[in-house]
Amino acid sequence: KILILDFGSQVTQLIARRVREAHVYSEVHPCDVTSEWVREYAKDGCLKGVILSGSHASVYEVDDRAPDAVFELGVPVLGICYGMQTMAQQLGGKVEGSHQREFGYAEVRARGHVDLLKDIADFTTAEGHGMLKVWMSHGDKVTELPPGFKLMASTPSCPIAGMADEARHFYGVQFHPEVTHTVQGQAMLNRFVLEICKARPDWVMRDHIEEAVQKIREQVGDEEVILGLSGGVDSSVAAALIHRAIGDQLTCVFVDHGLLRLNEGDMVMEMFEGKLHAKVIRVDASELFLGKLAGVNDPEAKRKIIGGEFVTVFKQEAAKLKAGGQGHKGATFLAQGTIYPDVIESGGAKSKKAVTIKSHHNVGGLPEQLGLKLLEPLRDLFKDEVRELGVALGLPPEMVYRHPFPGPGLGVRILGEVKKEYADLLRRADAIFIEELRNFRDEASGKTWYDLTSQAFTVFLPVKSVGVMGDGRTYDYVVALRAVQTSDFMTADWAELPYALLKKVSGRIINEVRGINRVTYDVSSKPPATIEWE
Ligand code: XMP
Repeated sequence: KILILDFGSQVTQLIARRVREAHVYSEVHPCDVTSEWVREYAKDGCLKGVILSGSHASVYEVDDRAPDAVFELGVPVLGICYGMQTMAQQLGGKVEGSHQREFGYAEVRARGHVDLLKDIADFTTAEGHGMLKVWMSHGDKVTELPPGFKLMASTPSCPIAGMADEARHFYGVQFHPEVTHTVQGQAMLNRFVLEICKARPDWVMRDHIEEAVQKIREQVGDEEVILGLSGGVDSSVAAALIHRAIGDQLTCVFVDHGLLRLNEGDMVMEMFEGKLHAKVIRVDASELFLGKLAGVNDPEAKRKIIGGEFVTVFKQEAAKLKAGGQGHKGATFLAQGTIYPDVIESGGAKSKKAVTIKSHHNVGGLPEQLGLKLLEPLRDLFKDEVRELGVALGLPPEMVYRHPFPGPGLGVRILGEVKKEYADLLRRADAIFIEELRNFRDEASGKTWYDLTSQAFTVFLPVKSVGVMGDGRTYDYVVALRAVQTSDFMTADWAELPYALLKKVSGRIINEVRGINRVTYDVSSKPPATIEWE
């Protein structure tokens, strides 16, 4: 295994992710573990190498250093950014503050004679120097190599951008190989963990399940856990994982606000109660929500009502479970499907420090209010890893690879006032759209249009337009189809769906959903439009 010591960089988990991508097992621990701890950790002989992460601080602002034992174990060590600086300082080199802060893209001259970088380069200069395209973010820099080290990489403003002591297998890089902007980053980390550390590439998602299950059992013991299940990917995977670990000690609370997609509530129950045999309390709160939304037109007001009611209902159920009774001790943990990007977003990635949950998380702030401890088994994983984990846990791929669905659900896809009649029409129209997106394949790629779009849905417009049907005139509602392609949901292009698909969807909606007589397609990009209509 590989030990990653975390000095508090925003991107430490990315290092862990890259090591996982090399199929090697790794653990992230805070940098202030003691030398005794490190020696104990390495005692069984499984430790193959150590990576020292970057930090958001300067070596002059903080006195974080690697435990000395790291350099005495006889295993390879790779220092990244701050990790390189502390390595240099601890082994007898010099680090100085720099007036020039280097931040962003840089081209680094690589000394290919060093084993870590041998034959790894993005391009070669006219003089025959191998060059690497990398991501830099630092102020301080190493100005004097420690004894035994040689130069491995440099830039004009950072003459010592990489250093190596090949005899002891100690390496330092000032840039960040773990971020994707460093083009050869994965190649370098593969070289380090697989060839230099000689770690075995035998780690797979199944192993992650075993570790995660073990950890959950240790953390929870014989106590009870509550989880808010929404049907979304993150809470579903968290539920499946925790259920695998502690079975009936977990109770899921599924608040159905009546603004879910067609049959969604039943599908969630069927999956978790029917197939996984998990305990799920379904709270049918649709009347409550619709009642509160009556007469409300403003999108933000609608969002606030839905979010607020959701928390109220969830809290009531959680309070009951916390109180225990009927053979139950009462729950002491609240589980959440927080994933690593949520942790970064909330600024919580400063690791060792306290973590706040992003405010728009469905049940944010609840653990404190309810006096429950927090259980977050997905905090170290990225979205695609969460999906892979879900599939490995036996969740159906259609569920795990679903498009995102906003917390307020159809509440923001019915323009203006939300009414049950509108929600029922919208659900049926939307189900047809999604069904056909899954049916139609793009010939060139062989993928379905559902998989070729990032998010697709139907929007209900509470206006009526005239139509003809048979011999009669109709005067019915309009829906808009929306399908976008995006990588980050911050910007998005409308998808160029095939006309044949649009034709099929529109024909089916108008014929099958009595009450809708006109279908339009939204051809607006974000910006200036947003993905949702409200
Ligand atoms: P917009 O409409 O802002 O949406 O382009 C970007 C992404 O965010 C989702 N979204 C929400 N998700 N609660 C959520 O959980 C919300 O209130 C909300 N509003 C928008 C939207 O579906 C899209 O994926």
